[in-house]
Amino acid sequence: MKVLVIGSGGREHCLVWKIAQSKKVKKIFCAPGNAGISEFAECIDISPANIKELLDFARQREIDLTVVGPEAPLTQGIVDEFENCGLKIFGPCKQAAQLESSKIFAKNLMRKYNIPTADFEGFDDYEKAIAYLQNLNFPCVVKADGLAAGKGVIVIHNKEEGKNAICKMMQEKIFGAAGEKIVIEEFLSGEEASIIAFSDGKTVLPLPSSQDHKQIYEGDKGANTGGMGAYSPALFVNEQRFNFAKEKILQRIIQGLQKEGINYKGIIYAGIMIDGNDVRVLEFNVRFGDPEAQVILPRLNNDLVEIFLAVIDNRLEEIKLKLSFQSAICVVLASKGYPGKYEKGKEIFGLDKIKDALVFHAGTKYQPVTSHQSPVTSKKIITNGGRVLGIMALGDGLEEAIDKVYREVNEVNFEGMQYRRDIGEKALSRKLQVAG
Ligand code: AMP
Ligand code: GLY
Repeated sequence: MKVLVIGSGGREHCLVWKIAQSKKVKKIFCAPGNAGISEFAECIDISPANIKELLDFARQREIDLTVVGPEAPLTQGIVDEFENCGLKIFGPCKQAAQLESSKIFAKNLMRKYNIPTADFEGFDDYEKAIAYLQNLNFPCVVKADGLAAGKGVIVIHNKEEGKNAICKMMQEKIFGAAGEKIVIEEFLSGEEASIIAFSDGKTVLPLPSSQDHKQIYEGDKGANTGGMGAYSPALFVNEQRFNFAKEKILQRIIQGLQKEGINYKGIIYAGIMIDGNDVRVLEFNVRFGDPEAQVILPRLNNDLVEIFLAVIDNRLEEIKLKLSFQSAICVVLASKGYPGKYEKGKEIFGLDKIKDALVFHAGTKYQPVTSHQSPVTSKKIITNGGRVLGIMALGDGLEEAIDKVYREVNEVNFEGMQYRRDIGEKALSRKLQVAG
């Protein structure tokens, strides 16, 4: 088979790495890919936003399966367009992808189908949103309705902060059109986890739990990012909580969508907040998490392409997951300035020294190096994004995985490199508390 993967992040590097292990696959293309991906796949210079060009490419090269990494092309309807041309593609259709592209759509569905989530109100009118602040209990959360790369959430502690947040989103439009509508919702406290599942519209097959670390600084401080590191399994998601998420959240939303006439095929991701017995949805995403994919897929011993095909052909019920008992952890190395304006073009050193971990590239690219001394052109890897690399290690237990990953992280450097030194630490201290 010839497979096309769309995207250029650590998640897509991990997908390409896993797809390359499939016996069914002869050739992988990736649009646009990155330096790491180019070791497994031929990188094609087409933007994930350019659906027409992707479609032309898939037809010309007779691609057998297309796998979409990021949410943007899904919400723009890439799946519908490929399917209309008779091409196999893994991911939800445009209508289904609204689950991520509109928080108001997702929240209304949750309300309708009795899926536990924070109490909320949606607004498309600035004055009404401001008036709503009068009777609120704080803290609360103001969210942009549309896509904002995980950054469109502001926690407010009083009316003044609320007014500022609403003004920034609806009038100053700091998130562009994504903030023209907003959700104001109850603040939830507790521990966050990600539950990611395959769905063919009928069967829901969850992968192991994981936990992301969204804030830029240690101790969960600072601005929200796309994710600074993750581990799997998240042991506080015990069997009871996991089953709750499967039955009362994932199955209900897929069945709810079905009742609305929407057949959900692809990955469904529930970001949940757990507070004792209270498990509630923070958000739905319509694709693998990044960096969650980088700790889940290395624990999956199935042929991933077989699962993708089973989803597309409506026979997911036939698949039994084969999962590793090891723990996986991924630490993200980011550029100076991220998640704000960040630097690019810094040479990355030390990747060849990593022996006991996998490196998933995100914002990286090759740069040719020409020298007067040698006629042979060599190349170096430079930074080319906010999140640059994810270093992933497996271990017998989280503690071993953490030791391993940070030993390997020490080998890598580039100017301005920043990362969190506490990925997985909260889980370890929780374990100690339980043991003590
Ligand atoms: P979202 O894009 O809705 O997932 O939000 C991004 C992040 O904001 C979540 O992962 C949480 O850390 C935080 N967040 C979102 N909604 C809430 C809420 N209702 N209460 C507390 N934190 C929230
Ligand atoms: N890591 C969070 C996300 O992928 O949305």
